[in-house]
Amino acid sequence: MSDQDLRGRPVDALTPEEAATELEALAKEIAGHDIAYHQHDAPTVSDAEYDALRRRNAELETLYPELIRPDSPSAKVGAAPAGGFRKIRHAIPMLSLGNAFTPEDVHDFLSSVRSFIKELRDDPERPVAIMAEPKIDGLSCSLRYEKGRFVQAATRGDGSEGEDVTANVKTIKDVPQRLNGDAPDILEIRGEVYMDRSDFAALNARRAEAGEPIFANPRNSAAGSLRQLDPSITASRPLRFFGYTWGEVSEPLGKTIVDIRKRFSGWGFRLNEPSRLCHSAEELLAYYDEIGAMRSSLPFDIDGVVYKVDRLDWQERLGFVSRAPRWATAHKFKAEQAQTVLKAIDIQVGRTGSLTPVARLEPITVGGVVVSNATLHNEDEIKRKDVRIGDTVVVQRAGDVIPQIVQVILERRPEGTVEYVFPDHCPECGSLAVREEGGAIRRCTGGLICPAQAVERLRHFVSRNAFDIEGLGDKHIRAFHADGLIRTPGDIFRLEEKDKASLTPLRNREGWGPKSAQKLFEAIETRRTIPLDRAIYALGIRQVGEATAKLLARHYGSFAAWRAGMEAAQDRDSEAWRDLTAIDQIGPSVADDLLAFFAEEHNRTVLDDLAAQLTVQDFVRSRATSSAVAGKTVVFTGTLETMTRPEAKARAEALGAKVAGSVSGKTDYLVVGADAGSKAAKARELGVTTLTEPEWIELIGGAGA
Ligand code: IVH
Repeated sequence: MSDQDLRGRPVDALTPEEAATELEALAKEIAGHDIAYHQHDAPTVSDAEYDALRRRNAELETLYPELIRPDSPSAKVGAAPAGGFRKIRHAIPMLSLGNAFTPEDVHDFLSSVRSFIKELRDDPERPVAIMAEPKIDGLSCSLRYEKGRFVQAATRGDGSEGEDVTANVKTIKDVPQRLNGDAPDILEIRGEVYMDRSDFAALNARRAEAGEPIFANPRNSAAGSLRQLDPSITASRPLRFFGYTWGEVSEPLGKTIVDIRKRFSGWGFRLNEPSRLCHSAEELLAYYDEIGAMRSSLPFDIDGVVYKVDRLDWQERLGFVSRAPRWATAHKFKAEQAQTVLKAIDIQVGRTGSLTPVARLEPITVGGVVVSNATLHNEDEIKRKDVRIGDTVVVQRAGDVIPQIVQVILERRPEGTVEYVFPDHCPECGSLAVREEGGAIRRCTGGLICPAQAVERLRHFVSRNAFDIEGLGDKHIRAFHADGLIRTPGDIFRLEEKDKASLTPLRNREGWGPKSAQKLFEAIETRRTIPLDRAIYALGIRQVGEATAKLLARHYGSFAAWRAGMEAAQDRDSEAWRDLTAIDQIGPSVADDLLAFFAEEHNRTVLDDLAAQLTVQDFVRSRATSSAVAGKTVVFTGTLETMTRPEAKARAEALGAKVAGSVSGKTDYLVVGADAGSKAAKARELGVTTLTEPEWIELIGGAGA
């Protein structure tokens, strides 16, 4: 019987001999398709056919575990479905939203808008229109239309790069294939793919009936349904879509959100309703309460509401802070709570040695998700709440955040419990764990002799916003560290070389094959060149998150300049120290952590090693290397006429300038508004160029720059 005849028969109709032949054929075939897809970027079969082959392979392996081949396609890490979608770079990044939890946060949001836009700051009576909309709990997706035709859909991914889910989104009935009426030639509609609660319940009932695993909640169900390699599976799932914002467009869509929502609707999109145009914090809070009250009767899950400044020209001026707009915020609903029993407290050791207590719970469903772990934050929190093993506790879960223990139900405390004693030694390496003065966190003093810290640092190093090495997951880092294959970041870039010399090369290890090993080496190779801010962030220096890493990259420009600056700044009387602490938003505490990192011999060795392995790209200033103020250091003083200080600062930075808080020898321009104080005198003394506000505006190319 030929292989082709075997292929036509159901798996359970094959004899063991035939199954073995079929498994061999499948392994060969799938490997061939993998090479065509991953290495030549030229798939030889459709995703659906490929998926069917893999499914058949998996079914046969379930029936005949003894026939599983060493080169089984199922054993390959990073293969479908995670690796099955093509990546799409977003022309305009898909960002997230800041959060508000309390009425006070909402007032703060509005005041920050008012104090940014001068017209609003100067006229406290002038109302500002804010669009309020439900915040649907699904997955965001960007749909691209060209000349009114749907051409592509991408998931959010990390915000810069998502996955190509075009074939799947095509099956969603709410997504128009052609737009009604007049649409710009290029139009990206962004919104949420989600599932109605009733559809979700029916789907789960069908799955339970068929003996298939059920989804935890509508959001997971929508995510699982969208990320199917076989679009016919997606088509069978009741997915829906709301449009609420946009990405790349070839012409402006309107002047306000109100206008644009009308256009969305005219093109054939459903809108997230009930929305309301509000004009004060009181109106926003009333809307929040009303939506909260109808939450359980809405057909879909929401986790809050979103507030957006209605005027687009103001949105543009307000701009963004790191990954979230200043012109919008998400007002979240109160978390869902449930009661359960605390079975144990485990201590986890983090990247910087912090000991974090984790509560192990009797599993309980909170807001549709099964929770069995929760954070207890730190030693003081446990004390303050007097949490004891055996206690019944209130667990809460809000959105994506880690579940928390809110309180203990004292009436239900069993006899004989004892107060929890926080360990003063690291549970991983036995080193002393100490609290710094005034701090709440106890840290392991073992540094890199502590395997937990070393592994956490490596995990951070390869994580998504750092080196982003695909295929090098937690499990692998842990195993490579234990085997001594990867001990420092530099070792990652020697992995292939070491592997060649190894008696047990990766390809022969469990869970690996020649292809997955090769894929990992390739993923590592592509990251040998890395932008400066990512490289800084990846080092995992305390308090140096993405935003701070960017500030440092912008300020120093190159890896070498940054290092030289940090080493020179060890002397706190130096110009280098003043230069570092003059960077706006870098306070003495962050500076201390940076210097502490550089003071350690071990860290300097790691940096030398990395410098030899990598090409760290100099910081590229956005839209701005060409601007007249790119790379210049500017100080603002006095009251400006045409804009507020936050807006002046944001605009200068968008043009590649650095804004400092005080005048020094490094200052290029001092921009002087009305009632300027001592800074003007200091600038004169140091010979710094002083500009009036109109001169500054002219220098940056006009008011609209
Ligand atoms: S506007 C710059 N409006 O919430 C980002 N987002 O937490 C503009 N979301 O990534 C987003 N409902 O996936 C916007 N009415 C709504 C939304 C909404 C849900 C999601 C979206 C976003 C996430 C941020």
